[in-house]
Amino acid sequence: MWVADMDFPAPKPILNTLHQAVDHGVLGYELPSMALKQTVAARMDKLYGWKVKPEAVVAVTGIVSGFSVAARIACTPKRGVLVQTPVYNEFHEVKNNAGVPQYDAPFVKHVHGNILSYEIDWDIFEKQVRKAGMFLLCNPHNPLGMIFPQKDLLRMAELCIRNNVLIVSDEIHSELLLDDNKFTPMAKLSSEIAKHTITLVAPSKTFNIPGLFCGFAIIPDKKLRERYEKEVSHLRLHVGSMGLFAARTAFSGACDGWLKDLRRYLSGNRDFLVEYVTEFMPDVRLTIPQATYLGWLDFTQTSIKGSPFEFFLKNARVAASEGGIFGKSGEGHIRLNFGTSRKLLGLGLNRMRQALKAI
Ligand SMILES: Cc1ncc(COP(=O)(O)O)c(C=O)c1O
Repeated sequence: MWVADMDFPAPKPILNTLHQAVDHGVLGYELPSMALKQTVAARMDKLYGWKVKPEAVVAVTGIVSGFSVAARIACTPKRGVLVQTPVYNEFHEVKNNAGVPQYDAPFVKHVHGNILSYEIDWDIFEKQVRKAGMFLLCNPHNPLGMIFPQKDLLRMAELCIRNNVLIVSDEIHSELLLDDNKFTPMAKLSSEIAKHTITLVAPSKTFNIPGLFCGFAIIPDKKLRERYEKEVSHLRLHVGSMGLFAARTAFSGACDGWLKDLRRYLSGNRDFLVEYVTEFMPDVRLTIPQATYLGWLDFTQTSIKGSPFEFFLKNARVAASEGGIFGKSGEGHIRLNFGTSRKLLGLGLNRMRQALKAI
């Protein structure tokens, strides 16, 4: 229940596309076609009414490479990367990859009963953003599962623009919405924001094809895009043909029925997780994710000594993700991937419950 992919096979139309490519037999070099860029742009329009020019779409070998490239053009040893913690562990690697400082803006944590929620500490954000060259936003948020309200997005963007900080919005989880939650891309909010933003999207999480390594950076500003493309080319980050083929089918709309069912199933898993923990592990606190298939569980009020990740690995034979990899404030927590069958989820939770009971 750790790394962020699901246990479900990818939708049939994507598998058919891949079968066709294999059956063709010639597996030569493939460039991102204009038709593919048009497909990505059309999806943004269809989902959000966000008008993107196809030429603004740059294919990347995944979202982590996408934001690593951005850091190379936007950060310097004096102006580093701003992140909101706890956050996806790869965000913490940007500083090493690009050789730049990292500035943390930790969230404020709230507890109601056993339910956790997080919000932005604006004083810290405002202080840290002044030092940054780039703000790396995770929306929807991994591991907290929240979708930022538009008023927060606007305030973050305003502070970035005022301080000449590039916004890099990692929106990889944006189609994994639970219940009837809605999502708005940061860059959709205004043309001024779009000019200062690189948006990263991919079909990888949504359609469970992350091993194909294909994502997209949407960069409306021409000058910024040219600098970005130059760096992509300099690093020779070519996307594999299978990823490009699969992405076109994924974003074409052919898999949207599958996605609707998936979202319903994941929403059910989320409810199951929250109800199970509330009823059978009352000392454990957790978030109610609005998006993603990632739960965030807090064991700081239980009698577990040390890392709950180690505890459950050893005593329950359940592997989740160690909370500390998402930042210091994540210690004493785990991230739990519920992108699996309800049966397996129940089995894992039951083992965790027994292990806790046995302390
Ligand atoms: C927020 C976020 N960004 C990026 C990635 C990984 O993207 P990729 O595999 O395309 O580099 C993940 C995977 O878990 C993620 O959660």
